[in-house]
Amino acid sequence: MRVVSGIQPTGNLHLGNYLGAIRNWVRMQDELEDGQECFFFLADLHAISMPHDPAELKSGTLEMAAALVACGIDPARSTLFNQAQVPAHAELQWLLNGTARMGWLNRMTQFKDKSGKNREGASAALFTYPVLQAADVLLYQATHVPVGEDQKQHLELARDIAAKFNHDFAPHDADGNEAPVFTLPEPINPPQAARIMSLRDGSKKMSKSDVSEMSRIELVDDADTVMKKVKKAKTDPEPLPSELGGLADRPEALNLVTIYAALADTTPEGVLADFGGEGFGKFKPALGELMVETLKPISGRLNDLLDDREALDAILARGAARAREAAAPTLSAAYEALGLLRP
Ligand code: TRP
Repeated sequence: MRVVSGIQPTGNLHLGNYLGAIRNWVRMQDELEDGQECFFFLADLHAISMPHDPAELKSGTLEMAAALVACGIDPARSTLFNQAQVPAHAELQWLLNGTARMGWLNRMTQFKDKSGKNREGASAALFTYPVLQAADVLLYQATHVPVGEDQKQHLELARDIAAKFNHDFAPHDADGNEAPVFTLPEPINPPQAARIMSLRDGSKKMSKSDVSEMSRIELVDDADTVMKKVKKAKTDPEPLPSELGGLADRPEALNLVTIYAALADTTPEGVLADFGGEGFGKFKPALGELMVETLKPISGRLNDLLDDREALDAILARGAARAREAAAPTLSAAYEALGLLRP
């Protein structure tokens, strides 16, 4: 079993990022058995498919790497790196561009969503983004790729590209059996990605770009800030119900209960069983304390790492060296299969 997954780098990481993707990665790493491996990378090459600020990309990549380590990705156990330090990603993408069909890429909904009304003005990178994503996983012979709903179509495409490449170009052994160049990766559902909303508006996702800092708990926030933000979170005057149905049209209350459940590793129903009938005067301090307890070690490690650029560079350099080594045989096999002469 080899798990491979990527995440686009951003800065200002918050509780939503942690309880969404990041904690799932940590759990997958922690659940692996001997002989199984995780490759986790920052998809910095994907980030240039949309208009971007170079300084922000650089600081976002470093911050995301630091956050992953602070949250529990152990660079000794998992291979943690950024794509740009492993040229094989860009190389294999080009090789796979010969196999991916225009018709397949034309059907990708993410391109349609992200290019919107301005298809003519979208970058070519945005169009071929899913081919780079295929290269990301095929390069390492990934067997399992944890992806959310929105990325399922891209993984399906990676399988189509791998199958067509194997069919068209894979060498055959002495008995005439195909010796596949690529493994077809299976999608896996991440254990549980909680959807965390803004503390100021329960209908909007918690976001790094919200103008109000009070809308999000950042991973670098200290205990006092966390407590203050939770106490000021928007709510309503009603006490908590004892059944989930009672939160149907109370999005802010539902969000706080969802956050509590995710942090305590229980269900919203479980939280309501404990707090049903209580007002926010009692629930908010309990939530704040739980949050501080979870985030304190994370923010401590994160701030330390952000202050130690050399340590962070070394972690990424080591991860990239391991990734380059793991990628080399597959990249060579792909060049060879295509009839490309190499030293
Ligand atoms: N496109 C993914 C996203 O935006 C990130 C990503 C890039 C990825 N390469 C990947 C995810 C390979 C899984 C496997 O979420």
